[in-house]
Amino acid sequence: EKGGYDYFMLKEIAEQPKAVADTLLGRIDASGVLSLDEVRIPPAVLREVDKVVIVACGTAYHAGMIAKYAIEHWTRIPCETELASEFRYRDPILDRHTLVIAISQSGETMDTLMALRHAREQGAKVLAICNTNGSTIPRESDAVLYTHAGPEVAVASTKAFLTQLVACYLVALYVAQVRGTKWGDEIRAVVRELAAIGTQVEQVLGTMEPVRELARSLADKNTVLFLGRHVSYPVALEGALKLKELAYMHAEGFAAGELKHGPIALIEDDLPVVVVVPSPRGRSVLHDKIVSNIQEIRARGARTIVIAEEGDEAVVPYADHLVRIPRTPVLLQPLVSTVPLQVFACELATARGNEVDQPRNLAKSVTVE
Ligand code: M6R
Repeated sequence: EKGGYDYFMLKEIAEQPKAVADTLLGRIDASGVLSLDEVRIPPAVLREVDKVVIVACGTAYHAGMIAKYAIEHWTRIPCETELASEFRYRDPILDRHTLVIAISQSGETMDTLMALRHAREQGAKVLAICNTNGSTIPRESDAVLYTHAGPEVAVASTKAFLTQLVACYLVALYVAQVRGTKWGDEIRAVVRELAAIGTQVEQVLGTMEPVRELARSLADKNTVLFLGRHVSYPVALEGALKLKELAYMHAEGFAAGELKHGPIALIEDDLPVVVVVPSPRGRSVLHDKIVSNIQEIRARGARTIVIAEEGDEAVVPYADHLVRIPRTPVLLQPLVSTVPLQVFACELATARGNEVDQPRNLAKSVTVE
């Protein structure tokens, strides 16, 4: 059942090109029009939405953090992403114009379920993004968009994450289409590239051997830091989470802009720091800033592991290890930049002799609060 792979996690990483294609299936037509009628939230209701709130836990929360950038940029509706476990304990402001999106692979996570129940009690509409047909979260929501990633067995989430991202992008683009906000060449180009994203994920998977080798060489380290900005900040958090749960290493993700506000004090000789570099296109000021961050940490002894787009030459002089990812539209980059981090964590776990599919102390779905 592992299809020739040693672990379910490896199989699920390899399945990602197909999984993302399955999430897209039937949802974008040949002329780039999105049809999400299955979502059952009438366009009239979507036109009235004045706030989006995303609730989720763990990896699904990271997908939600990325979705915030896409939703606000494409729809101009204010969006906040909140840990489901914090949400209902702070008396959040919700009403019938609030769209709450609950993201959950299993559909059974108790924190997320309690958050959506609270949201519905306050009159908000809830849309679930879920991978498990007929599970509790979609049953209790007003609408559901299934990710169709297929069963995910490994405790560490991989293909579910990529498909949650695709589903979030679809929702954001659909809302933009319904409301007509900013619908133009930029968004049309994004839709076209999203529709073909599986090929790019495949391309990344084909170039992972140096990442595996690097991971093995770091098996004795105690700490790995991850830095990112913009959409690559949540990717950094996801890279750190994968490493914690699989390799049992101290791993932390930071927004690169926060470095000088504290974390740079952690940098010491030969400390591995993974930097996920946002696309140099679109937000070039941001790109320049992260290149300076790489320079700064390297000057203080860090071993820099840089994940950057093909053609991004500015990072080359400061990268001790360079991992190339294909070019994508700025907001879609997490679909390709997360993959090397999954492979990295999986290989480190193996090198450290850990149980990859069933890490200690963890359960696949967390059905208690
Ligand atoms: O089933 P869910 O998506 O609701 O699960 C949420 C988290 O428990 C889950 O993503 C967890 O963080 C994973 N083990 C991460 O790899």
